[in-house]
Amino acid sequence: MLRVLILGGTTQASALAARLVGDGRYDAILSLAGRTKNPTLPDLRHRIGGFGGSAGLANYLHAEAIDVLIDATHPFAEQISANALIAARETNTQLAVFTRPAWKPGAGDKWRDFPDAISAARSLGKKPRRVFLTIGRQQLAAFEIVPQHDYLIRCIDAPEPLPALPHSKLLLARGPFTLEDEQALMRNAGIEILVTKNSGGEATRAKLDAARALGIEVYMIARPQSPNVPAFETLDAILRFLEIQLHRAMP
Ligand SMILES: NC(=O)c1ccc[n+]([C@@H]2O[C@H](COP(=O)([O-])OP(=O)(O)OC[C@H]3O[C@@H](n4cnc5c(N)ncnc54)[C@H](OP(=O)(O)O)[C@@H]3O)[C@@H](O)[C@H]2O)c1
Repeated sequence: MLRVLILGGTTQASALAARLVGDGRYDAILSLAGRTKNPTLPDLRHRIGGFGGSAGLANYLHAEAIDVLIDATHPFAEQISANALIAARETNTQLAVFTRPAWKPGAGDKWRDFPDAISAARSLGKKPRRVFLTIGRQQLAAFEIVPQHDYLIRCIDAPEPLPALPHSKLLLARGPFTLEDEQALMRNAGIEILVTKNSGGEATRAKLDAARALGIEVYMIARPQSPNVPAFETLDAILRFLEIQLHRAMP
């Protein structure tokens, strides 16, 4: 039996966990950070809460005799992915990333790519613009260098502390969002620029379609550089990878 630890918090992790349930070749554990109050859990062994940094994760991998670590966390969950890389190296555990494909611009899109939030903020310019910020909570402070703009900030939970942006309105909402609602929201707020992270996935992509339909510019913050780890973007591909690991471990 191959012992697999899935680092979750995404639909990818849940889908993989659901596929491993009842497959007698795998003994899988799903790990969640504990951010969501009532997470939907597959009928699979799970644990909730941080490990205590990379050293804590390494201890866990060792104690649970994990053969394969699957990093199926959100593409912008940088800390846990960095910890996974260090812990896998330290314990000689096979590591793979399971993620969703990045969004790509299509015909009619007006996208500008930025490596990080601060460079997107700098490019907003001096003249006040109406900006829709959908980048989560953690990097909002980057926009404090350009406080003259009018911001509509959408997050799932309120940022703490609130960013020092005098012309801002906070909208607390959780996707999925419909194209119609996104268009109405951006039109009514007179949005000129949408700033977003390239999370990929379907739940929040309607904002990009709405921006295209309304001719709104999109500032797209790229995913953090991923290290040299095998990465898979479909359930079939990660399952094939696991089968290869199984044959290697138990020829
Ligand atoms: N960042 C996003 O935009 C985003 C969006 C949707 C969902 N999520 C999900 O929400 C969770 C937290 O995201 P984040 O951006 O706060 O992560 P992060 O900054 O990369 O991680 C912060 C700390 O949370 C703990 N942690 C994160 N994921 C964990 C997991 N799957 N199992 C156990 N501990 C975990 C770790 O604590 P220790 O160091 O104590 O181990 C980690 O050091 C992740 O599972 C991620 O997949 C994130």
